[in-house]
Amino acid sequence: MSFWHRIDRPIIGLSPMDGVTDASFRLVAARYGRPDLCMTEFTSVEAICCGADGWVRDFSYGECERPVLAQIYGRTPRAFYQVAHIVGELGFDGLDINMGCPAKNVANKGCGAGLILNPELAVAIIRAARRGLEDWAAGQRLEDAGLGPDVVERVRRMNRGRMRPPARPLLPLSVKTRVGYDKVAVDEWIPVLLGEDPVAISLHGRTLKQMYKGFADWDAIHSAVELARGLPTLILGNGDLKSMADAVERIRQTGVDGVLLGRGAMGNPWVFRDKQWAKDTLAGVASPGGAGLDVTREERTRVLLEHSRHFENLWGERRFPAMRKHLAWYCKGFRGAAQWRAQLVRARNADDVARIVAAGDAAAPPAAAAFPFPEHTAPAETVPA
Ligand SMILES: Cc1cc2nc3c(=O)[nH]c(=O)nc-3n(C[C@H](O)[C@H](O)[C@H](O)COP(=O)(O)O)c2cc1C
Repeated sequence: MSFWHRIDRPIIGLSPMDGVTDASFRLVAARYGRPDLCMTEFTSVEAICCGADGWVRDFSYGECERPVLAQIYGRTPRAFYQVAHIVGELGFDGLDINMGCPAKNVANKGCGAGLILNPELAVAIIRAARRGLEDWAAGQRLEDAGLGPDVVERVRRMNRGRMRPPARPLLPLSVKTRVGYDKVAVDEWIPVLLGEDPVAISLHGRTLKQMYKGFADWDAIHSAVELARGLPTLILGNGDLKSMADAVERIRQTGVDGVLLGRGAMGNPWVFRDKQWAKDTLAGVASPGGAGLDVTREERTRVLLEHSRHFENLWGERRFPAMRKHLAWYCKGFRGAAQWRAQLVRARNADDVARIVAAGDAAAPPAAAAFPFPEHTAPAETVPA
């Protein structure tokens, strides 16, 4: 039995977002929100196998994120087979295959959501990745899987100092995808995936063509739940959830085994904090929380600074401008947010952030100490008395 079946239902996890949910964001999400699971940003199997080195940062993670899955994408079954060995060797808890990315430079090459149009290749990829996980679990070395010496050495270096159990567990394989390519095709596409018996399918309720426009189609997600009824595969719904109250509503509506939240966690790693309230509410058990989170200014600034420091450690000061979007997201929906934001988006490094925060703290009126998230409110009928 894998971690997927040990998590209390419904599963409430952090959805992977390239350029957003790197190890520094996942660290603060795991510490201050505690989602049930995390995934790395999607990483190209072909890039890993051909010796590129960007994936080293993509595959770094902290123990507090567990269970943590490596998410990979590509179009070459053999590369999936090989990278499955790396995923096992690096101590991940599971492997997730991205079949949902709509970006042109991914889907037009037949990867990500492009695979919805090529079910034969999708099946070959799942089978190759699973065989890779099985061979690794049976003791096959990375070299014997055909990985080059430079890649093998890189994995060894990444593992230095990491505590790894001597056993090689058979890791669970899951798929994250969309409801269709240019139209909803759940009835054709989801049975293809179910036929391969993944432990879970995370389903974003948009087609590739929609990209991120319009609304996620939760009726289509409900259809997938119906198709999976009686089968061992878990269905996780995804799309447009901004709060635990949204999650409760959609889980009730569709009967999904869980949900993933992505954009709702931007600047708001606390969004998962009412996870237990959501689970209790769905189980009909009275539970505190759920009525909206008040995040004090102290906590908010402490976390954005911690995030900044970890980001700089991971990426170096040169890449710090990529942290600025997070800083802007943290500064939303409270009095004085615009002034903070205007300064923070010019920060060049974590020390700049610390200075701006310290100056802002000194100037802030005491009444501004708590910044409630206006969007994080439960519907009136579910607010516990
Ligand atoms: C900036 C950005 C990057 C994303 N990167 C990934 C990714 O690497 N892997 C993936 O499976 N989905 C990725 N997604 C899709 C999200 O995981 C999620 O499916 C989508 O945003 C819908 O959920 P939401 O409405 O809760 O954000 C990305 C989304 C965004 C906005």
